[in-house]
Amino acid sequence: MKITVKQGDIAAAKVDALIINLFQGVTQPAGGTGAVDKALDGILSQELKRTIKSGFKGKLGETLVLPTYGRIASPYVIIVGLGKSEKMTAATLRQASAAAVRACLKLKIQTVATILHGAGIGGHPVQSAARILAEGSYLANYQFQLRKGKKNTSKKATDEAEEQDKSKTLESLIIIELDKNRIGQIELGLEQGKAVAEGTIIARDWVNDSPNYVTPTFLKLSAEQIPGLKCEVMSGDAIAKAGMGAFAAVAMGSVEKPHLIHLSYVPKKKAVKTITLVGKGITFDSGGLSLKPSGSMETMKMDMAGAAAVIATMKTLATLNDLPIEVHAFVPTCENMPSGHATRPGDVVTALNGKTIEINNTDAEGRLILADALVYAQQKVKSDLIIDLATLTGACIVALGKLVAGAMGTDETALVDIKKAGEIAGEKFWPLPLFEEYESFLKSDIADLINSGAKGEAGSSAGGMFLKEFIEPKQNWIHLDIAGPAWSSSEKYEIPKGGTGFGVRTLLYYLYGWS
Ligand code: BES
Ligand code: ZN
Ligand code: ZN
Repeated sequence: MKITVKQGDIAAAKVDALIINLFQGVTQPAGGTGAVDKALDGILSQELKRTIKSGFKGKLGETLVLPTYGRIASPYVIIVGLGKSEKMTAATLRQASAAAVRACLKLKIQTVATILHGAGIGGHPVQSAARILAEGSYLANYQFQLRKGKKNTSKKATDEAEEQDKSKTLESLIIIELDKNRIGQIELGLEQGKAVAEGTIIARDWVNDSPNYVTPTFLKLSAEQIPGLKCEVMSGDAIAKAGMGAFAAVAMGSVEKPHLIHLSYVPKKKAVKTITLVGKGITFDSGGLSLKPSGSMETMKMDMAGAAAVIATMKTLATLNDLPIEVHAFVPTCENMPSGHATRPGDVVTALNGKTIEINNTDAEGRLILADALVYAQQKVKSDLIIDLATLTGACIVALGKLVAGAMGTDETALVDIKKAGEIAGEKFWPLPLFEEYESFLKSDIADLINSGAKGEAGSSAGGMFLKEFIEPKQNWIHLDIAGPAWSSSEKYEIPKGGTGFGVRTLLYYLYGWS
């Protein structure tokens, strides 16, 4: 889909449908919606007065489709509810934009024109409003299409299949703006929104794609191919040789070679600070010899969602190429498989910082690969903050549900700022504790640490406590457990079924400080 901006009168646009908006409870529309009502001789406000009691009320994400019967050039008007005006936020604006696109997809139309929702007085700065509209629209228009085969190869059947595929997504969305002084700001916002959405979509595609395609080597090659970033990779036996015994222990059961990817973004001008991102890149988590039941294994191609979010964010930074912060990404990636070579429950390994770990559960593998990656990241780069993203624990889903990521760490300010960035970006985070008393979860009888000590107690905090053992005392660090929101079993607003690309938006909003 292409999103563009044009100066003019929305009512005069000639497209498949016009998208206009309405705050909850309003029956006499103003602005762009009012202009369309006027052009329609007031049938819109008449209809609104009729439906406000029993039908369309303008609730957030509600849509009403009205035919225009030749009164204006476009055959349909889609009214999208913005919810209560006093409750409008960046997140609700994004959701309303997404709902409008979903209504278009239902109608199987291809070209639409819209007004810029929620911009200006009492609303969002024009540039933010445009960014948010673009994000919501692109993200709602997303479909995972990489592995749909063409069953019939005859010319006619192929054309038909292509025709069908096309009709599933929108082709063009034009923002029509009356005030020509706003066009420049809208264009800037659209550019940012497009970059954010593209980043999120790359992460979604990688998470959705099958683990026989998205292997550790696929992630390595994808990282190496990003223009404008430096990429260094440590592969295979070199990982164990370098002293990363915990990472190597996880990779051992698989025939796929492990990689430790290091991407760097260096700004054109002198950097104001340095931030390091770390992402869990288990391309398939069978549990290893502590094998998962088949039901829990089904979606475990998503166990590289942290890696996907981190690499996709780096790619977006390179695209925008205007962030004044130096950003590094470290991604340990491998498969967690059972085999004759696999790590046994009971094995003891030594991590890069010299700590020994009793692996009593090979399914708690994320913390093992992250432990070494975190130590390595601290040795390679002096950062003001390290943020790791990982689908680390099922316990996080139990504690917070599917919508919310757990956030914990050693930097209270960053914790608050990331949570706030998430709210604006449309992703939810909630703090979880790392109490000193929880160190008891890490006690092993035979080694410095055990990888799965706390049975049925504060599992996400236990994961965080384990990672903290690999963070230097003065290092600011945040751990984001995205096990819940990285994968969705239903679609709503800008969130699709399957891989969600969770984390990309928050990281970008946090790094850029967008509001
Ligand atoms: N990849 C899983 C966590 C997970 C579970 C992510 C469900 C997304 C959805 C992780 O490697 C794992 O298996 N964790 C164990 C930890 C336990 C053995 C301490 C878990 O959650 O059961
Ligand atoms: Zn696991
Ligand atoms: Zn895992």
